Amino acid sequence: MSFNPLTERGMPVAEQLRDWRTLNSQPYDKLAVDPYTKCRIILMNGIEVESAFFSHQFNRHTDVLEVKQALALSRRIEQQQQKAINWLTPGDETTLEVTIGYEQVAVDLTAWLARSEPDPYLRQTMDFGLLEDFDHLYRYSNLYEMLEGKQADTLLKSLTEVMPGRPTVEEHRHPFDDLRRHYDKHTADPLSKLHAMTLVAAEQQTMNFYMTIGNRYMEPIARGLYLEIGMIEEQHVTQYESLLDPATTWLEDLVMHEYNECYLYHSFAAEESDPRVRELWERHLEMEIGQLQVACALMRKYDGKEPEEILPAALPEPVSFQPNKEYVRAVLAAQLELTGDGLDFSTDRPTRYGDYQQAVHGDGPVPSEHVIDEHVRRFGTDYRVETDGEHPNERLRRPLVETKGA
Ligand SMILES: [Fe+2]
Ligand SMILES: [Fe+2]
Ligand SMILES: [Fe+2]
Ligand SMILES: [Fe+2]
Repeated sequence: MSFNPLTERGMPVAEQLRDWRTLNSQPYDKLAVDPYTKCRIILMNGIEVESAFFSHQFNRHTDVLEVKQALALSRRIEQQQQKAINWLTPGDETTLEVTIGYEQVAVDLTAWLARSEPDPYLRQTMDFGLLEDFDHLYRYSNLYEMLEGKQADTLLKSLTEVMPGRPTVEEHRHPFDDLRRHYDKHTADPLSKLHAMTLVAAEQQTMNFYMTIGNRYMEPIARGLYLEIGMIEEQHVTQYESLLDPATTWLEDLVMHEYNECYLYHSFAAEESDPRVRELWERHLEMEIGQLQVACALMRKYDGKEPEEILPAALPEPVSFQPNKEYVRAVLAAQLELTGDGLDFSTDRPTRYGDYQQAVHGDGPVPSEHVIDEHVRRFGTDYRVETDGEHPNERLRRPLVETKGA
């Protein structure tokens, strides 16, 4: 069924404010929550954070009072939306449990977007990032068992596998090699634009989260792992934001942000299994339609551009959280050895790769390696969830030594 946010009524922005009681969402039950409900919450929190930050940047770059006022009003609402969503996360969920959710989002969101991405270069970029976040999930899952004595699969419910991806130790590249070529706003498929914006927001939220909570641990091994993976999330934000066309005007960008919010809330309202959370997605969809109308009116007035010139006639196929095991395995088998070389991907490492590696790893130890070594030392083996058979890439199969002497 096609849905065009431009022709919907929506909720006027002036009516969107909510009181404290409404915003202070009742958290979900961490033992009963559907892992993909949790993923949708994590993603939409990141989307709202991006909306607020984008609006702040815009405010610092315009002197048109009418625009500043419209931004201020919508931004206050974006902030309320962010609170209503993020406060669904319960206080008894540990930082590592939330973190494992963040990396599950990165894996199953990136894989889904790659599978539905029309542009081969963007798809390649997503496949590239996918293998790295997939590895983060593995490292944090090993840390989780060591620190909390629990298995990540109780959270992931076997929807997402846990095994090494492109080893985190190898992901550290020279900054020039995380830049990518941008799409052309005139010719790019609208779906590609929405995909890129969504990944920027998701990776940015992960980056911000690790920047903030990585120092909340006493254990040096945990502090080290968050520190190291936090630096990779910086690389991921650099990569995905490079895809966006810098010729996009501020007002076009505002319209695209509101449109992407409509797209995602519409997608998730359709597949949400928790009725209470679904209601929130539906309500926010109504709100975003109202915010989109305001953004379109400003673009029409100040850019002289009609929304139909930059937006499709209906929302594209919805985004979905679902298992992507087969897809991830195929990418693991084929693309593990890729690295960045300028704006492209290659199996040949540029010279500056080695220099950068030396600068950040020094004489070691490297936290992401140390965490696995420690796990093996204490439990006899690393922690994995290989539901669909052994690792698809021979290089990352378990060594057979641990069965010795049985
Ligand atoms: Fe929003
Ligand atoms: Fe990650
Ligand atoms: Fe990432
Ligand atoms: Fe919005």
